[in-house]
Amino acid sequence: MRVIIVKDYDEMSKEAARIIAKQIRSKPDSVIGFATGGTPVGTYKELVRMHKEEGLDFSKLTTFNLDEYYGLGPDHPQSYHYYMFENLFNHVNVDPKKVHIPDGLAKNVKEFCKKYEEEIKKAGGIDLQILGIGRDGHIAFNEPGSSLASRTRLVALAPETIKDNARFFEKEEDVPRYAISMGCGTIMEAKKILLLANGEGKADAVAAFIEGPITSQITASILQLHPDVTVILDEAAASKLKRKEYYKHVDKLYRKLEEEEESSN
Ligand code: PGA
Repeated sequence: MRVIIVKDYDEMSKEAARIIAKQIRSKPDSVIGFATGGTPVGTYKELVRMHKEEGLDFSKLTTFNLDEYYGLGPDHPQSYHYYMFENLFNHVNVDPKKVHIPDGLAKNVKEFCKKYEEEIKKAGGIDLQILGIGRDGHIAFNEPGSSLASRTRLVALAPETIKDNARFFEKEEDVPRYAISMGCGTIMEAKKILLLANGEGKADAVAAFIEGPITSQITASILQLHPDVTVILDEAAASKLKRKEYYKHVDKLYRKLEEEEESSN
């Protein structure tokens, strides 16, 4: 796991966008897994800028989103469909036919989830999956106690998550209690993973998933078993890591290697 610690939210967003853009440029028909929430908003803003100013081309991409609230349709302003179009897809040249976001109004949820998994496979699997992390250590909506081998399914939201997400709704009672979410097993099949976290509120979850044991109580901890994970943290989110200085040290060394590699190409 590569842990990159940057100063603040702005730097985290720029660094994340740089990594995503590198993936898109090196494989224009990449399959990208997108995440929602407050964390990646700045990253998507930077990607929109790169599209407009540097011609970053989204036209050949296939996309899959991690999750969607169950019961919210695509036009609901708090749905993740709405979020993705508002924050990214409406501002870049992505092909809407290649965009996949779980259907919050699916009638036969089991059938829908099975099909979603099949579609990921048919697309060749996810090349780069972007993730946030919840205060309870969740990735996507895989709340504490979720199977670390789980697949796309209907999940019930934890009380912390309902509380955390209430800021996007008029009142807490309006937050849906269920979601359709990719499972930990689905996420682990992505070829590369990029997890972002900022702010002090995430510091405990970050320390637990990077330095604690692998446990279904902190579902992000399964990422310790993935061969290609990059984590970008701001100083506040990194503040409870015991080996913070060590991560900074090795990151410097990796960057030096990368620079040498780039200049020799
Ligand atoms: P946030 O959510 O980006 O809104 O903090 C992250 C998550 O719950 O995965």
